[in-house]
Amino acid sequence: MASSKERVPIVIVEYDDISRTIAQRIAEIIKERRAAGGHAVLGLATGSTPIGIYRELIRMHLDEGLDFSDVVTFNLDEYYPMTSDSIHSYHRYMRENLFSHINVKPENIHVPRGDVPRADVDEYAEQYEAAIRDSGGIDLQILGIGKTGHIGFNEPGSGVESRTRRISLDTITRRDAAADFFGEDNVPTEAITMGVATIMEAREVALVATGEHKAAIVCRAVEGEPDPDIAATYLQQHENAVFYLDFAAAADLTRLRTPWVIGEVKWTREKETEAVIWLSETTGKSVLKLDAHDYREHHLSSLLARYGSAGPLNGAVFNALISKVRGRSKLPAGKRVVVFSPHPDDDVISMGGMLNKLHQNKNDIVVAYQTSGNIAVFDHEVRRYADFLRRYGSDFDITDSSYVSLIDDVESFLRKKKTGEIDAFPVQVMKRAIREAEAVSGIETFGMSKSQARFLNLPFYQTGKVRKDPIGPEDVRIVHDLLEEHKPELVFVAGDLSDPHGTHRMCLEAVVAALADYTGPAPEMWYYRGAWQEWTIAEADVLVPLSEEELRAKIQAIFKHQSQKDRAPFPGQDDREFWQRVEERNRSTAQRVDRLGLPEYFAMEAYVVRREGAPVDRETVPTSTLRVMVGPEEEPKVRGRRSVRAKRG
Ligand code: F6R
Repeated sequence: MASSKERVPIVIVEYDDISRTIAQRIAEIIKERRAAGGHAVLGLATGSTPIGIYRELIRMHLDEGLDFSDVVTFNLDEYYPMTSDSIHSYHRYMRENLFSHINVKPENIHVPRGDVPRADVDEYAEQYEAAIRDSGGIDLQILGIGKTGHIGFNEPGSGVESRTRRISLDTITRRDAAADFFGEDNVPTEAITMGVATIMEAREVALVATGEHKAAIVCRAVEGEPDPDIAATYLQQHENAVFYLDFAAAADLTRLRTPWVIGEVKWTREKETEAVIWLSETTGKSVLKLDAHDYREHHLSSLLARYGSAGPLNGAVFNALISKVRGRSKLPAGKRVVVFSPHPDDDVISMGGMLNKLHQNKNDIVVAYQTSGNIAVFDHEVRRYADFLRRYGSDFDITDSSYVSLIDDVESFLRKKKTGEIDAFPVQVMKRAIREAEAVSGIETFGMSKSQARFLNLPFYQTGKVRKDPIGPEDVRIVHDLLEEHKPELVFVAGDLSDPHGTHRMCLEAVVAALADYTGPAPEMWYYRGAWQEWTIAEADVLVPLSEEELRAKIQAIFKHQSQKDRAPFPGQDDREFWQRVEERNRSTAQRVDRLGLPEYFAMEAYVVRREGAPVDRETVPTSTLRVMVGPEEEPKVRGRRSVRAKRG
């Protein structure tokens, strides 16, 4: 398949492979430079993307003795103003995620300082540039990409000549960082960043992007014209830049989204459905009205040729679509079901309609809330509950000193709490309890009972911070025990990997790992999407119609999550409340189905189902990444699949 639209080499693999490949390349550079009597100079980035690379480098240092003693590092950027010991500083991030675990010398580390007086910033920036030059220049620069297309903090408008400097952060960038800073208002408005020219001088560049929230900007940076408003497009002119993408981040690229536009496609039933839906949406005609001319005019002659004429093709796709629609009578009944909900409200937000119907169908359901979601509760909620407890205690003369002093502790902690400070334990517990009570109330809306809710409180989440620990054996054991106890025939999991903090991704990882050792018969896996997206109609295996009343019931259940109402602490880039997004999402799925020429439903939920019966592993997880990933017979022609090293040669 041609990939003529791509203007920069790309590698599409899973995140772990990206991390390993780049870490290995770094190790090679370190050794090559040392062997040649010099030293390696690494350009480093922060953010969520490079964490895996740093973990792998630490592993290589500990297990394989990878030596960093002569390595020089330069980081891309730092917020301004920012003290280096702040929990938000990139100095601290680098210490915690890399430097303090390897033998790099402190004097060889360079991270732009966020505490330089304003008047001295220009001079400081020049010194930073000079230090890069004096070190011999950067051998390999690691980059992430922001939603604005920034590399480093080179926001829209950054020129190709730009050098290290102070810059104003874009609103989108600040909003993306809001969760880390416990609110957008706390995100600094400025940063010090290497310039585009500084980055372009690196001898090699590895840009890494993961997650579907990056898909649109990645497509723009890879396929779009060079544009000063999207700094990443400058990399198209770099001689040795490779974009490493996971499948989710690559999903909007033409080679994956609409491969027929750029060349021959090996047609599968899935691809046929995708193409016909696309054609119907592109032409604005329902599936059964598409004619041969439409197919020919839109690069789909080869598909048409397989069927001889439009009629049979339209009919086959129409029937495939109709068979996806499953009302209550066609949904599972009398089965043992486990619903995994990463946060305490994902169950009702993403599959409230289904949950209601499964309950009506007399399935034996357990909803397993994997994390407490406590970091997403505002302090003012806790104050309100503490006040409630105090009043309740006084009404019933509960004079127990531990009861009163616990409330005192909570209130006094919150009075003195600094922005972003990790909550004291009793506050964390109250936040968890608030969310647990809301979750119970949510499922009770459907007539389910409290005993059907299980709160797993997985340890990986219990950092008190936005950033979580990796999934560990204890997380897996807890999920595994639940599976062994309930022996589900059906398992529902969040199959989206794009929630802002990666928690959904990690919760899925825990389920996948637990299933690997599960002794019962492999359950059927139903994947729902999280609060941020919906499966496309082509991706979905099952479309569940909801009446107006059923959608209202679902929204009522979402309302029970009061701590997330009005203004969720972590809304992502969407200002709407969760119930509003749900209403729009479920109604728009039904409208799209309607436009394809299927019956007109009020609203719809979408699910991907894996029926193969094998334990789920990474290969069968239908993230949009893997869904758009072509089968083994149709390995994507990854232009940049050669390693970074090969490119140098
Ligand atoms: C970080 C940096 C930024 C990030 C980008 C993506 O040092 O310069 O350009 O790489 O904002 O951030 P994540 O990886 O958190 O999505």
